[in-house]
Amino acid sequence: MTSGVISVLTISGSLRAASSNRNALDAVELLAPPAVRISHYRGLGELLHFNPDLDAEGMTPPSSVALLRAAVMAADAVMICSPEYAHGVPGSLKNGLDWLVSDLHLPGKPIGLLNLSPRSTHAQESLREILTTMSTRVISEASLALPLSGRRLSAEAMAADPVLAPLLRESLAGLVAAVR
Ligand code: FNR
Repeated sequence: MTSGVISVLTISGSLRAASSNRNALDAVELLAPPAVRISHYRGLGELLHFNPDLDAEGMTPPSSVALLRAAVMAADAVMICSPEYAHGVPGSLKNGLDWLVSDLHLPGKPIGLLNLSPRSTHAQESLREILTTMSTRVISEASLALPLSGRRLSAEAMAADPVLAPLLRESLAGLVAAVR
């Protein structure tokens, strides 16, 4: 936290350009108060497949991994919004998290988990288990299911939606409270 401003890093579990999960995180930025700075990590698709040989002690990590770790280090909290694929966590997101297992800056960090499909509980539960195992703090107040109900909404539409906007604000507030 620099001069009272809280930094929140967002990660979308979907790589789709028109992703609803990504739009929801953009909506969080639109709704964030001035004392919260949102930055979006968009590099999941550029990461190599995790290989412990590349992450051994004394190794210089690939530059894409260094960027991910720097983004995590700079953040006071992380907000993840992810779809579920085949009842699991999307592979690209799990791959990114595997690169962070040995990262010294993640343990203890507050994490919020947004879910746009309240019926998709497998990936959400799996993410909670993975992130708890990685010694992060999954914040219940920041981890909400949003009733998007299959709609395709832009970030602006989500930020203006009378049901979604209060939930997005609530999630961010829960994350900020966990930092303070
Ligand atoms: C899905 N989807 C999906 N949904 C679900 O509730 N349970 C599931 O197991 C799956 N499995 C699945 C597999 C694959 C390969 C795809 C492409 C999709 C639906 C998926 O979660 C939904 O499309 C996302 O909400 C799309 O999010 P974005 O890309 O708009 O952010």
